[in-house]
Amino acid sequence: MYGLKPFLAALPFFIASTVAWPSQSFKTINSTPPVFEITKSGQPLAPGLIFLTPDSSTSELAIIIDDDGNLIWSSPSVISSNLFVQTLYSAPVMHYWNGTGSANVAVEGHGYGHVQILDTGYNQIFDICPNFGLTIIGNGTFECQADLHESYITDEATLLVTAYNLTQANLRSVGGAVDGWVADSLFYEIDIQTQEVLFSWSALASGIGINSSKLALNESGTVSGTEENPFDWFHINSVQKVGTGYLINGRNVWTSFMLSAAGDIQWQFEGSTGGDFHLPTGANFLRPLSIETCSDLVYKSWEHHVRAANVTSNSLVLTMFDNANGVTGQPLQTTRGLQFSLDLTSKVATLLQNLFDPNEILYVETQGAFNSLPNGNTFMDYGQLPVMKEYGPDGDVRMTIQFGDVNSTESSAESYRAYRLEWDAVPMGTSPALVVQNGILYMSWNGATNITSWAISTGSSADTLYKWKNVTSTGFETNATLANTTGFVHVDAMSGGQVIGSSSVLSF
Ligand SMILES: *[C@@H]1O[C@H](CO)[C@@H](O)[C@H](O)[C@H]1NC(C)=O
Ligand SMILES: *[C@@H]1O[C@H](CO)[C@@H](O)[C@H](O)[C@H]1NC(C)=O
Ligand SMILES: *[C@@H]1O[C@H](CO)[C@@H](O)[C@H](O)[C@H]1NC(C)=O
Ligand SMILES: *[C@@H]1O[C@H](CO)[C@@H](O)[C@H](O)[C@H]1NC(C)=O
Ligand SMILES: *[C@@H]1O[C@H](CO)[C@@H](O)[C@H](O)[C@H]1NC(C)=O
Ligand SMILES: *[C@@H]1O[C@H](CO)[C@@H](O)[C@H](O)[C@H]1NC(C)=O
Ligand SMILES: *[C@@H]1O[C@H](CO)[C@@H](O)[C@H](O)[C@H]1NC(C)=O
Ligand SMILES: *[C@@H]1O[C@H](CO)[C@@H](O)[C@H](O)[C@H]1NC(C)=O
Ligand SMILES: *[C@@H]1O[C@H](CO)[C@@H](O)[C@H](O)[C@H]1NC(C)=O
Ligand SMILES: *[C@@H]1O[C@H](CO)[C@@H](O)[C@H](O)[C@H]1NC(C)=O
Ligand SMILES: *[C@@H]1O[C@H](CO)[C@@H](O)[C@H](O)[C@H]1NC(C)=O
Repeated sequence: MYGLKPFLAALPFFIASTVAWPSQSFKTINSTPPVFEITKSGQPLAPGLIFLTPDSSTSELAIIIDDDGNLIWSSPSVISSNLFVQTLYSAPVMHYWNGTGSANVAVEGHGYGHVQILDTGYNQIFDICPNFGLTIIGNGTFECQADLHESYITDEATLLVTAYNLTQANLRSVGGAVDGWVADSLFYEIDIQTQEVLFSWSALASGIGINSSKLALNESGTVSGTEENPFDWFHINSVQKVGTGYLINGRNVWTSFMLSAAGDIQWQFEGSTGGDFHLPTGANFLRPLSIETCSDLVYKSWEHHVRAANVTSNSLVLTMFDNANGVTGQPLQTTRGLQFSLDLTSKVATLLQNLFDPNEILYVETQGAFNSLPNGNTFMDYGQLPVMKEYGPDGDVRMTIQFGDVNSTESSAESYRAYRLEWDAVPMGTSPALVVQNGILYMSWNGATNITSWAISTGSSADTLYKWKNVTSTGFETNATLANTTGFVHVDAMSGGQVIGSSSVLSF
């Protein structure tokens, strides 16, 4: 039953890890990203880099790595989620959520923060710090109130973010008090240029029944529905603009909803009944290799990161990370990646993909991501477990990346989501970093995606540098043994034959 972390019972959503991962360290940057253990089948992988936000008790970062686990970019220490590349004003941008929450148990599974948007030179071009006037869960005060679960740039240069509001609600339908408390699930659409809120939606105000929650009040022995521990009956975790409407997912109701531009529910796809959809007879699928004892067939449950693709007026493909585990103590279910085709006219849902690794069955209660890739591959991040996998179009496992102990009974390392994305960047605001230690020169340029070699110049004075030698780039930090014990050194970062960046001159 490896992969299960029973201690999470009391804190079922999103918490900081308590154990450090085996880490890498460098001379040229103060960052200790995990050591990545990588296995590949040799079958083609999709192009692009891997964007993740690993956290443990000692280190919380947003990072980019390549397929060999080499660091490409590291943020300074930050509690982050959703390091993501999208297009804004026709140009690629990278953005990440930065805030408080994942490490703050009082804000169990939610967060308050801002979304920073960077160009391909790593210059911050927007910092979206929305203050929605929310009633904060716990007793903090937060100027920036975007939640950690979603930050998504639309084609209209707006940003979608989730948010959580502490509010009172009648909990009688779930056996609670008439004047109980809930964490209401909200999302907002914000104009990136002006930070004006253009649209907002509330699960509570929408009329979706609190009793549609699959989470029980007082689940796992923790009293909920109180002001201190409001009932998180819906738990919004993804929002995407689809046409003029919105696709949202409520993890704790096992339901993905398509909303109109006005926020009205157009259809819903629920995990145990199909909601407005049915799977044709015979197309039901049992959870593979499950040790479950439940007799119910469940299509999806406790899912994360629901996205629509290939949208037409009467069909779309729905992809998701199906956690399939949400309540500790219930029979374990295989966590998997799912892809459905939804026919919006006949309301038939067809299962297209059911991705899991038969050689490493994982049970993931919280977090996770599913990326459909342009070459037909799928990249999945196993959220609470320090594992990412890339699958081929036929479901074969092509790469596994691990960055901590998957068997630890304590949460050793996790990344809320991870993405595989193409990103071509030169860190314009900085120059390559140099350190000389014990006669060895170390060089790196945090964020540069294209360095192939380094051209090193040395000399006995800053004015008399001559081209000494070229060395091939070996991952994030390259080193070279200097010929002299004192002198001056300067390097050019090279991409093929092109100089893409120059360090200052360092005396050693
Ligand atoms: C995160 O935000 C804080 C301000 O809230 C800022 O000081 C810090 O530099 C940010 N960190 C990163 C990595 O952007
Ligand atoms: C917030 O609540 C915690 C736990 O009840 C308490 O220890 C802390 O002092 C409170 N902080 C503030 C600012 O009220
Ligand atoms: C948040 O909850 C408070 C009550 O705690 C309520 O007055 C307020 O209208 C809610 N805000 C939103 C945006 O729903
Ligand atoms: C939840 O726990 C509280 C406090 O023990 C109790 O009063 C309430 O009846 C419980 N509700 C349910 C639905 O279990
Ligand atoms: C929720 O409660 C409403 C009325 O209180 C009822 O009509 C509905 O059937 C209930 N739904 C579920 C899923 O129990
Ligand atoms: C969308 O359609 C294209 C072309 O048929 C296909 O290659 C791609 O895999 C589809 N995407 C998804 C997520 O199904
Ligand atoms: C985790 O435990 C399983 C079952 O005991 C074992 O097969 C696997 O090798 C372990 N994985 C690691 C990374 O230790
Ligand atoms: C990086 O390299 C690729 C392929 O060699 C090239 O197309 C791209 O223009 C380069 N980008 C930069 C920023 O130099
Ligand atoms: C380093 O590489 C550049 C570009 O290919 C070349 O012009 C230069 O002569 C090389 N320098 C040395 C010292 O080999
Ligand atoms: C220099 O770089 C090589 C290749 O990455 C590495 O194996 C070696 O340990 C480094 N040497 C030092 C002293 O860091
Ligand atoms: C080392 O120093 C000597 C003289 O001080 C100089 O001739 C030689 O070029 C230097 N070598 C390097 C690699 O800088």
